[in-house]
Order: sequence, then structure tokens, then C-alpha cells
Amino acid sequence: MLINLWYVAEWSKAVEDQPVRTRMLGQDFVLFRDSAGTVHCLSDVCLHRGGSLSGGWRKGDCVACPYHGWCYDGTGRVVLVPSEGEDFTPPRRARIDAYPTCERFGMIWVFLGDAPEEERFPLPEFPEYDDQDWKRITDEWHWRAEAARVVENGIDIAHASFVHPSFGMEATAYENHIVEVEKNDYRGRSENIQYPPQMKGWLRRRMRKERQPTVTKPEWHLNGLIARIRIDINPKMSIIMFDANTPVDEHHTRTFATQLRNFLKPDIFDRGSRKRLRKIFAQDTAIVERATPNFLPESHLHELSVKDDRFMGSFRAARRRLIEKGWQIDSAAVAAHRRRKVLTIPSPQRRQHADIDWVMAPVPLTGGREAGARAAGL
Ligand code: FES
Ligand SMILES: [Fe+2]
Repeated sequence: MLINLWYVAEWSKAVEDQPVRTRMLGQDFVLFRDSAGTVHCLSDVCLHRGGSLSGGWRKGDCVACPYHGWCYDGTGRVVLVPSEGEDFTPPRRARIDAYPTCERFGMIWVFLGDAPEEERFPLPEFPEYDDQDWKRITDEWHWRAEAARVVENGIDIAHASFVHPSFGMEATAYENHIVEVEKNDYRGRSENIQYPPQMKGWLRRRMRKERQPTVTKPEWHLNGLIARIRIDINPKMSIIMFDANTPVDEHHTRTFATQLRNFLKPDIFDRGSRKRLRKIFAQDTAIVERATPNFLPESHLHELSVKDDRFMGSFRAARRRLIEKGWQIDSAAVAAHRRRKVLTIPSPQRRQHADIDWVMAPVPLTGGREAGARAAGL
């Protein structure tokens, strides 16, 4: 799991008047809105006696801890300690990690890491999201699998011939091919031609003939661990899937799925769309949850790739560069402290205020193994 990326923490509509708990990268966070409606994300651990802030309540622009009522503002600072009275000025150490947030595409995005703004990758674009030409549905899916494996599955074209009978068939597996791969440090796009079977049902038979060439355009984005795919069923009918894959921890992934279609737009067709979406997820889950190892292998030598895997290879390479930067959480070291010591994802303020003796230690990172271990008191 990597720090210094944006992740989707929750649907925007799920955070209203009450604080909401969410788990990402193996840590708990609290989301709450201030009086202006701006959403904030803090570590969910009160530095007084470890209360869970998400069990508390909103007070003005703050979240109040349910244990002794300490109030934290959106920057993570304690601004009120009720037992000490209103005149009490909390010490500088009275602050927890707070993370940059924004809301896009109906979701709350949180930057989990301490990199300054100028070093962060841009958020993915989704120009069709608000476009009236497209009908939108959303759904959620939970996997007992690691997020990078889930992303790879989402951009892997070759598996359709075996896992998704409605999109591919064994007989055309050798005909499918990648036309183009385009990539940079934080995103990749590809274009593929596939020869799927004819769809069942009188209407769907009209959509696509047997083995009619179909263009699919998968994309990956490191921010949000997005797997996006556009399928042009025919020149007039397309589907776009935009999945944000949030690592709950190293063994679980929560997918925030948005699907758009530019045909059969009345609401009455949403149910069928959702049913088909879930069927696809279930087909993928049956494969991905049983794949080993749980993580992407540390070396490319430990799995054998062929030319049809080269788009996934571009995702692996981009990820690998971040691991080499020292942005990977040392999950084994974190596990050794489970329930014994609080470790938090370092926030930008932690780097800005390095002079403060922060109450909680940051999670150890594999790249900076020694420094991380020292910080965790190992
Ligand atoms: S534990 Fe949060 S106020 Fe005491
Ligand atoms: Fe799939």
C-alpha cells in the first residue's frame, strides 16, 4: 500500500451531519463537515485517551471526541478541552494528522501522505460524469483482495475471453490485441480490439453481431487506484466504467463504481445495468480472491508476462517507481504494533511542523525502513 496518493474515502452523500468512520491503508479516519459544508478528514484517534472521534459529534466547525469532549478543528488541532475551560490554550502538540480533501464525481477524495502540493499527481479526469449524453449509476463492491490486484483485473483485457462470457469467448482469445499504450508517471491508457460473442436477447442482438470488432479503452490512474474502461459496443453505443479502488487494508478493497451508458437512458433500465455490473464483479471476484500471492509479486521475475500483459506492465512500473521513492507502507512492521501502538499516515502538516513532538508516530515505510522503524520506536 502506498502513501502520497489521493484515495476515495466515501461517497459525498454518505457524510452529512454526523462524523463518519472510514478505513483506508489499514488505518481509521474520521470524515466530518464543518458549518460551511466543507468536508475534513482526520486520523480517527483522539490523542487524549485514544477515543474514536467518529463516535463523537459535530460541534460548530469541529468534531468532538465522545470520551471527554475535546474538540478538533479541520486542521487537526485541539481547540477546546472542556475540563480545562474555554480560556485554556492547548499545547502545540495537541494536534492530530489532518489530510487534504476534495469532492469530485460524487465522492470524497483524501490525500493520504505528507508530500507538498506541488509534488502530488493530478486527480483523474472524468469529463463524461456530468455530461447529459450519459446516464449514470453508482454501486459499491468489496473484495477480499489487495487493491493493485483489483486494478490489474480491471484493465486486463485478455481475461474477458475466459471470465466474462458476455464480453469474450475462448475461440477469439488469440484475435484480441492491444492497438496502443500511452502512459506517463501516474496514468496509462490503452486501446484494444476484441471480438466478443453476440449478445443475447432481441435488442442486444441488434447491438452487436457475432465477433464484431469491439474497441475497448482501459485506463489506470495511480490516484484513486482507478481502473476505467470504455467499451464501444458499436459506433453509437458505449459504456464507461470508472472504478475507484480504495485499499481498506492490505487484504481488502472497497470499490466505488460509477457506470455510464449513452443508450437506454430512462431510469427503468438502471436495474438491469446494475444487475449486469454486479454479475461482472462477481465473475472477477471468483478469480481475483483466489489468486496468489495476495499482492503483486515484488519482482516481475516471479510471474511470467506475455505481450497481452504489457498494459498491466505499465501500471506495475509506475507503482514500482513509487515504491522506490519510499512511499510503500511496511505492513509487516505495522502489523507488529497492531492494537499496541497507534501509527498514523503522515500528513502534510506533520512535515511542515517537524519541530513539534507529535503524539502519534507515523507508519513505517519500506523504503525508509530504518527511519520508519525509529519513528515507530522499534
Ligand atoms: S479520549 Fe478523546 S477527549 Fe479524552
Ligand atoms: Fe473482469
